[in-house]
Amino acid sequence: MSPQGIARRLGWDLRPRQGQKLKGAQSGSGPQILMGFPARLAEPPPGMSEAYQLVQLSNGSWSVRSLEAAETFHPVVGPAAEAEALYVRQLRIRERLTAAGEGLVIWDVGLGAAANVLTLLRSIRDLSGRIRVLSFDQTLEPLRFALRNAPRLGYFGGHEPEVETLLASSRAVFPSGALAVDWSFHPGDFPTALGSAEADAWPPPHAILFDAYSPARNPGMWTLPLFSRLRELSPDSRPCALATYTRATLVRVTLLRAGWRVGIGNATGEKDETTVAANHSSLIEQPLGPDWWRRALRSTSAEPLQDAVYRQHPMSESTRAALERLPQFRNPGFPAVQSLSSPPPPGASKVHTAKTKTVASSGTDMA
Ligand SMILES: C[S@@+](CC[C@H](N)C(=O)[O-])C[C@H]1O[C@@H](n2cnc3c(N)ncnc32)[C@H](O)[C@@H]1O
Repeated sequence: MSPQGIARRLGWDLRPRQGQKLKGAQSGSGPQILMGFPARLAEPPPGMSEAYQLVQLSNGSWSVRSLEAAETFHPVVGPAAEAEALYVRQLRIRERLTAAGEGLVIWDVGLGAAANVLTLLRSIRDLSGRIRVLSFDQTLEPLRFALRNAPRLGYFGGHEPEVETLLASSRAVFPSGALAVDWSFHPGDFPTALGSAEADAWPPPHAILFDAYSPARNPGMWTLPLFSRLRELSPDSRPCALATYTRATLVRVTLLRAGWRVGIGNATGEKDETTVAANHSSLIEQPLGPDWWRRALRSTSAEPLQDAVYRQHPMSESTRAALERLPQFRNPGFPAVQSLSSPPPPGASKVHTAKTKTVASSGTDMA
């Protein structure tokens, strides 16, 4: 019997419906959800699971959507195009692999459906060298779901057997063209793992693909302690750049306070800007400048999160004082930051707990 037949018999509604507006998606350009899917169906039909759905984007490509987080992993241009623009090109993976004799270490924060890693591997498979990938996630479910739907998602590039190995044993070592790849999976809550002594033994990263859900939905992945610890584990002796899809002021301020240099990242189909951070200024093409600083001082959401509770608050005096001392804002040609300062605007701060409130993703301050 077809899934629709099973659903009819059980009285469930599987009719196609319009997707909810997603993180920063333009109206009309967001994905269409294939079908609603009740969480109780024991044998999910292809394209659906208890927790994930395939969605078709307006450009025809397919992506994975988490029902629980109510977010689509790569919501507008699709998985491969977003991974290519945001991570591979922006972090200069090809050039840096060619230049780096000892190979590159990539930290993939939020493995999800592995679109970022698999696109990265495909885009460098004509190069020789060694790539070590450490993928972090609290679940392998989206990857299992993606593997079942690999032909439609279209970004596996023939790596289905290696993904099966990773799923089975948390490590896959294999050649990809002329590359030697060592891909490991590190399960669990990332902030907890990062804070543990075990993290000191991880090889320090050359590049970090930072792809958690949005700060409003997933605040524990965007805190000052987390980015400070990431900076601690990225020593200056190993130039490292981190890219993320968000341009939120809150995230940029947090990265700056955590000791990263921060710049404006490439546009993707969805965003006119993203964010890139690095431990070396040479890895930042367009550092945040006076215009950004002026906007940050006016922003109603510019204070770093200290814990896993999403709060929106203008920049505090102590954060402002700390940022004004940063080398990034002391370049010749940068106007004295104090002269740009104005008191933060009045306005109540907003507090949301991630699990209990639904937070609308509007404006660039959130994602
Ligand atoms: C937007 S998806 C990642 C998409 C993925 N990079 C890809 O290319 O398909 C975000 C991922 O972050 C993971 N995540 C969220 N919070 C986490 C946490 N506290 N610890 C570890 N992983 C987390 C989610 O399970 C989810 O798979």
